[in-house]
Amino acid sequence: MSATRSVEYDVKDISLAPEGKRRIEWAEREMPVLRLIRERFGADKPLQGVRLIACAHVTTETANLVRTLQAGGAEALLIASNPLSTQDDVAASLVADCGVPVYAIKGESTETYNKHVRTALDFRPEIIIDDGSDVVATLIKERQSQIKEVFGSTEETTTGIVRLRAMETAGVLPFPAMAVNDAQTKHFFDNRYGTGQSTIDGIIRATNILMAGRTFVVIGYGWCGKGVAMRARGLGANVVVTEIDPIKAVEAVMDGFRVMPMTEAATIGDVFVTVTGNRHVIDGQHFARMKDGAIVCNSGHFDLELNLDALRAMAEPVQQLRRFVEEYKVRETGNRVIVLGEGRLINLAAAEGHPASVMDMSFANQALSVEYLVRKRGELPAGVHILPQEVDTEIAGLKLRALGIGIDTLTAEQLEYLNSWETGT
Ligand SMILES: NC(=O)c1ccc[n+]([C@@H]2O[C@H](COP(=O)([O-])OP(=O)(O)OC[C@H]3O[C@@H](n4cnc5c(N)ncnc54)[C@H](O)[C@@H]3O)[C@@H](O)[C@H]2O)c1
Repeated sequence: MSATRSVEYDVKDISLAPEGKRRIEWAEREMPVLRLIRERFGADKPLQGVRLIACAHVTTETANLVRTLQAGGAEALLIASNPLSTQDDVAASLVADCGVPVYAIKGESTETYNKHVRTALDFRPEIIIDDGSDVVATLIKERQSQIKEVFGSTEETTTGIVRLRAMETAGVLPFPAMAVNDAQTKHFFDNRYGTGQSTIDGIIRATNILMAGRTFVVIGYGWCGKGVAMRARGLGANVVVTEIDPIKAVEAVMDGFRVMPMTEAATIGDVFVTVTGNRHVIDGQHFARMKDGAIVCNSGHFDLELNLDALRAMAEPVQQLRRFVEEYKVRETGNRVIVLGEGRLINLAAAEGHPASVMDMSFANQALSVEYLVRKRGELPAGVHILPQEVDTEIAGLKLRALGIGIDTLTAEQLEYLNSWETGT
């Protein structure tokens, strides 16, 4: 990595760059698929001159995505997609070593976060890489005159895609938006194994609690919830699942977990994790029922899964016990409820987010989605799109190759059989 030019930026401390550089290079070792794409981008320059902003968790893996986009010829600017998820050394290195304008500081206020979103839009992007759809929503709400300059966006996470589909239904989504999360090589692995491991990592780094023997409540049994439940069980916790979808609830039962309503789970849980993408799934009535010392956190995209306003209203002033650990004493019961990471995604607030090996496939999807938007410029209708299935399959194939794992291919006889209907009993 070498500095290309001096740029404007807003990072915590530019002198952290050397440590960031070392960690970015460490992550890169676990990202062979993205590396292959970067090599091809470097040779072919498919993104030459494209002005692009990325709103993402500023982590070592994101840094490798930004380097890939730069290698393809894009002019990229990066902002944080969450006030607590930035790794300040990575932000510094991207500025100092790669010449990327970065606007991201761990612990920035919501006001600064929103200011950075507007700074990014001032960059006059043609492509937006979004994570949670805050940039696209701000563009639509505040920058109508700029919309014609944008020829597409990509979206990283489930919650952002829910928002994009709502925009599409309301008739306000003005361009094609690539639903990166909906690629199988993204949500099967990132949401399940990435969130599964890193959420537990965040809880342990914040608290250093022993998981074995605890009653661990997972709220939401979607892709992320499945991963969190699976890994909590692996560490010896007694896992309880709550759901609102009967199919997911049956799946959790058959996977061997206890399923019950949240009002009941609230009374028995030692640790609670929300992963629903929904609002106030732990509400005042649940906090009121919790045992003394219950630990509560969120790994869903936004910090609204826990109703912390309700908790604040029913509790004594908060006590900071240690970094990312705050205690609320509920007046009515006298019980203490411990909230981690201010209710923001705990895997990024208290740990480092997903391991690079899983982000390799997520960000391969991001890079190829950006390339797809550039290649199809002017051809795709406004709306939510997903990458063609063969790209998904190719990413999985590359990952297997990088892992040194071979698989079988269909024989001509099998192919013919699968495409015929005549042969039966
Ligand atoms: N922490 C991370 O790094 C990370 C990574 C990927 C996704 N996410 C975010 O995590 C959230 C979940 O993502 P996902 O891919 O698992 O989504 P998903 O749609 O697969 O699963 C969400 C589940 O929550 C359930 N649910 C909704 N409301 C509920 C309620 N009131 N009580 C109980 N269950 C409820 C739904 O029925 C669904 O099964 C999203 O906000 C997503 O953006 C976070």
